[in-house]
Amino acid sequence: MCGIFGYVGNKNCIPYIISGLEKLEYRGYDSAGIAYLKDKNLEIKKIVGKVQNLKEILDFNDFSNVGIGHTRWATHGGISVENAHPHTDCEGNIAVVHNGIIENYKELKNFLMSKGHKFRSQTDTEIVPHLLEEMVDKEGMNLEEALKELFKRLEGAFALLIIDKRRPSILYALRKQSPLIVGFGTGENFVASDIPALGDYTERFYYLKDNQMAIVSDKEIKVYDLKTNNYIEVEPIIVPQDGIRAEKNGYPHFMLKEIFEQPLVVRRILSTLDRDKDKFIFEDIKNVDISWEKIRKVFIVACGTSYHAGYYAKFLWEKELPYFIEVELASQMHHRNLNIPEETLFITISQSGETADVISTLRKVKENGFKVLSLVNNPQSTVARESDYFINLRAGVEIGVAATKTFMAELVYLELLKEYIKSRLYNIKIDLDKWNMLPTYLESYLSQIKDRVFEVAKKYYQKRNFLYLARGKNFPLALEGALKLKEISYIHAEGIPAGEMKHGPIALLDPETPVFGIVYKDETYSKMINNLEEAKARKAPIIAIGNEWDEKLESLVDDLIPVPNVDPFYYPYMGAMVLQLFAYHVANLLGREIDQPRNLAKSVTVE
Ligand code: AGP
Repeated sequence: MCGIFGYVGNKNCIPYIISGLEKLEYRGYDSAGIAYLKDKNLEIKKIVGKVQNLKEILDFNDFSNVGIGHTRWATHGGISVENAHPHTDCEGNIAVVHNGIIENYKELKNFLMSKGHKFRSQTDTEIVPHLLEEMVDKEGMNLEEALKELFKRLEGAFALLIIDKRRPSILYALRKQSPLIVGFGTGENFVASDIPALGDYTERFYYLKDNQMAIVSDKEIKVYDLKTNNYIEVEPIIVPQDGIRAEKNGYPHFMLKEIFEQPLVVRRILSTLDRDKDKFIFEDIKNVDISWEKIRKVFIVACGTSYHAGYYAKFLWEKELPYFIEVELASQMHHRNLNIPEETLFITISQSGETADVISTLRKVKENGFKVLSLVNNPQSTVARESDYFINLRAGVEIGVAATKTFMAELVYLELLKEYIKSRLYNIKIDLDKWNMLPTYLESYLSQIKDRVFEVAKKYYQKRNFLYLARGKNFPLALEGALKLKEISYIHAEGIPAGEMKHGPIALLDPETPVFGIVYKDETYSKMINNLEEAKARKAPIIAIGNEWDEKLESLVDDLIPVPNVDPFYYPYMGAMVLQLFAYHVANLLGREIDQPRNLAKSVTVE
């Protein structure tokens, strides 16, 4: 998952690289490192931990025109200085940073060791500088030939930045599967894993495609395409900087800011609804050319929070649309056969659009002739670009590793999409008033419950295990609540379908294990009440999100976080915010690193 950043130009590369790495830390923060050329030599500095630690060991009086940096999410090899990038060859001529996984690194390492190369790390990446050294110094290739040959010899995914002290004013960038973007400056050029790292310096970008190599100098960016064996003309896209910068705006953490931004996100999405026409239609759907009446099956694929949004949609869609809906984790799709009818539509959901498992599923199903509609928060991402149809989630940049506002956007779009299909299939009018009220309801609900959620979090934050219980369409929300809590607070939490408790999990209950129920007055209500009674009988403390003035529920639970008695349409959106805020406060009370929880990264670009 790692973030990589490179600079070549007429200024000092060090501050650029450091600032770029800080913006890429959401991709991993186990260690950080930088390599730059100084007096015709490679200077390498690396540390364990965050970029802040790297800053402390850097000499900012050093000056260099070309350099590369890395912030790591460890895959191969533990978290140590030796395993931190950049990595070099035996002679210290070449420095490499890498995002991805080189799957055949063991064979290559054995081969290189048999040729006398000495390795200093346990990483897959280190084979790259040694292999280049072997090809250039022993096999007699020039560096560019060797770099092209790398595409053939390396299996797996890679975004690589490479500098060679013998070619002091050039930076090489290679991409296969892992994202890599070049930024066009004036007298300087950049390469990074993601646009936010470049947004302070340029608005002109080019997304390298698979099997492309950029040869970057201060004056030009040449792009070589392995498929055509030629240099190609590339046209930069313009992405205005306003859309890229992310600030906390006075909030202590990005996550909290992003939770409170949700009504705004919903308003933004709803502003794309076409209100003048009789037909229910929204902006991005206009480009989706699907014969909805021919579809028999919808297969939704995603990971983590996005999977939970898809799982929620399954219940909604199944109820109102004539489709069989299946939801699967993208990581599980590697192991599945596609024995499914031709009239199947695939939907992938991904806030980043760079999740490796989602990308590989997308490619697999497209190879099998299926159409893919994707919901993605980054229109330039691989998923967005490679899908047949694409809906932009419009949540804005999400910095907190825990997905919040993108989850909200996914829920809203999946429901809008359902409404759209319904209106097409049955020629019925959709109740727009209900939608129009959503942002306002969410706004007032947030201000109404924020103190209550904090109060409840204060009461329970020291517990070590939580069970989140719900039924039917509320169950995916329970999964999401548990995921939010575990990923940012490191408390063990499980989402369990309430009806399954008696088949095993009920054995976990005791006075130290709070149960968090989702108990709206809907079709799941009476069975949920029974399940919470069963938990109470085992002396588990009970927290619940449920309707206000529900005396039965109030007398049963220890702590109720109420939703107002409005149309049940609003409940999941309100409930999602409660679950996010609860996890946030618990993690904050425990002093966790909320925006960058341990072992995680925002974009999961390895399988
Ligand atoms: C959410 O809080 C998590 N950080 C994670 O589960 C995330 O949802 C998952 O990695 C999928 O990411 P994507 O939406 O970018 O594909």
